[in-house]
Amino acid sequence: MQLERLEVEIDGPVARVWLSRPEVRNAFDGLMVTELRKTLFDLGLADAVRVIVLGGRGPAFCAGADLAWMQATAGFTREENLREAQSLADLFFTVYTSRRPVVARVHGAALGGGAGLVAACDVAVAALGTRFGFTEVRLGLVPALISPYVLGKIGESAARELVLTGERFEAVRAQEIGLVRAAVPEADLDATVEERVRQLLQAGPHAIAEAKALLREVAGKRVEEIQRYTVERIADVRASPEGREGMRAFLEKRKPDWIA
Ligand code: COA
Repeated sequence: MQLERLEVEIDGPVARVWLSRPEVRNAFDGLMVTELRKTLFDLGLADAVRVIVLGGRGPAFCAGADLAWMQATAGFTREENLREAQSLADLFFTVYTSRRPVVARVHGAALGGGAGLVAACDVAVAALGTRFGFTEVRLGLVPALISPYVLGKIGESAARELVLTGERFEAVRAQEIGLVRAAVPEADLDATVEERVRQLLQAGPHAIAEAKALLREVAGKRVEEIQRYTVERIADVRASPEGREGMRAFLEKRKPDWIA
């Protein structure tokens, strides 16, 4: 696919996807949503890719939905309006359900859907000074599509305050509430992301995909309703080729075959 709104770099097992519409701070319109969804979906299925890093070109990670595009959708028929909303929902879901871990490299600003994209990623690292905000209510909108991911990351207490005020907050606060895992000087951002990537590459590729699915499935459930599922997961995974190899490698005091 010819990409107009993204740049993709493949570096061994690491795919770096850059939102590339810096003139509007990487605000996403319909084309960017389509490109990003398809790119992340395809990378999630590519055997050679084991970690995906998502970043933004220019001064900001992502200014959320392109408000000119959002405004246009308001004039659509209800059916078309729903279709556009569904395509954006599919983008967040693609990140969340990717078989590969997705690391957000966040700088400048992550607002509205941009903050939602951060929430949908597995691990997020931000540069100090990055402005975050669930600004939708200040625009007369609601953070509907991103709300499951935001609640999952920051919980109801912080979400009630930040979603209802729409206030902007800084990277340190984003770390305190769990939206990002680290807030570091911008000069250290790439090194911090690379360290996360290095850690993720230690994991078995099937195990990591299974673990992502496991966390999604178990989140919010009572032990009684989920225990059978958890029993089946460990039983299946420890009998899988990768599980056998990982345990054998440990006992033989060598690296497993997925570590080059
Ligand atoms: N949709 C459409 N255009 C946007 C945009 C968005 N979400 N965010 C920024 N832009 C445009 C601006 O209108 C401006 O266009 P112009 O050059 O034609 O005037 C351009 O991007 C640069 O924005 P500017 O505000 O001058 O850049 P900045 O670096 O000073 O600030 C932000 C960057 C992201 C902090 C600021 O643009 C902002 O607050 N954007 C709104 C983000 C938001 O609330 N998004 C929620 C959407 S639901």
